[in-house]
Amino acid sequence: MEKHVQAFLHKISYCFITIATITLLLIILQTPETCVDPYNPHTKFHHRFPKSTCDYKHRVYTSLEKRNKRLWATSAWSHAVQSYLNVFQELQSNNLLSNLSHSFVVSAGAGQAVMALKNMGVTEVIGVEIIDSPPLVSRADPHSLPFFDDVFDFGFSPFLDRALFPGRYVSELERTVNVGGVCLVAVEECGPQEVDEIVKLFKKSQYVEAKNETLAGEKMTRITLKVIKR
Ligand SMILES: *[C@@H]1O[C@H](CO)[C@@H](O)[C@H](O)[C@H]1NC(C)=O
Ligand SMILES: *[C@@H]1O[C@H](CO)[C@@H](O)[C@H](O)[C@H]1NC(C)=O
Repeated sequence: MEKHVQAFLHKISYCFITIATITLLLIILQTPETCVDPYNPHTKFHHRFPKSTCDYKHRVYTSLEKRNKRLWATSAWSHAVQSYLNVFQELQSNNLLSNLSHSFVVSAGAGQAVMALKNMGVTEVIGVEIIDSPPLVSRADPHSLPFFDDVFDFGFSPFLDRALFPGRYVSELERTVNVGGVCLVAVEECGPQEVDEIVKLFKKSQYVEAKNETLAGEKMTRITLKVIKR
C-alpha cells in the first residue's frame, strides 16, 4: 500500500518537474516584444527592444558581483558547497579525482559543486546549466554539450533526475569524459532497483558504487561509474 502511494507521488513529482522544465524552456525561448527604456524608466511608452535581452546594457558587472557576494555568504550556500566537498574529497582519497582532473558539472544550478571543486584545488572546472550564473556556470543544453569527445576526466551531475531525456543526458556525459575517467551522478534518494535502472543508462561505463548522502540539504543517492567505452 505504502509502496503504491510512494510510486504515485513519484509519478506526480516527475510530472511537475516536466511541466516546470517545459515552462522554463518556453519562458527562455519566448522573447518579449517590447520593453521599458532603461535610460528613462519612468516613461509610459514602451519601445521595441533592439537585441535579444531587454536590459543588457543596464546590467553592470558590480551588481552581479554584489549579488554573488550575497548569495555566497548564505549558510545554505556554504552547507551545499561543504556537502559536495566531502564527496569530492572521498573520491580523491580513492584516486578517482585529483587536482589535475579536467572536471565539469552539468545541471550545475548556481554553481555550488563548481565552487566545491575549485576550493578543493581542482584547477580546471567548468559548470553548465540551462540558465547561466556567471562566473561559475555557463549556459549550455545538457542534452547537447558544447564540448568535444573525451575532453574531461571527471563529469558530475547533482541532478540527473531533472533530465528531460535521461538517456541522451547520460550519453553526453559518457561522450565527453575520457576512458578511465569518472562519472558521478546524484538523484533523489532511491533503492537498489532504481540504482540499477540508472546504471543501465550508462552504456560505456562500469559501476563503482552507490551511496546515500545529504547533498545541498536533500537526501540523495549518488552513483559513481568509471568510463570504459569498450
Ligand atoms: C590540491 O590543491 C590544493 C590547493 O592548491 C592543495 O592544498 C592540495 O594539497 C592539493 N592536493 C593534492 C593531492 O595535491
Ligand atoms: C538508500 O536508502 C534507501 C531507502 O531510502 C535504501 O533502500 C537503499 O538501500 C539505500 N542505499 C544505499 C546504497 O545505502
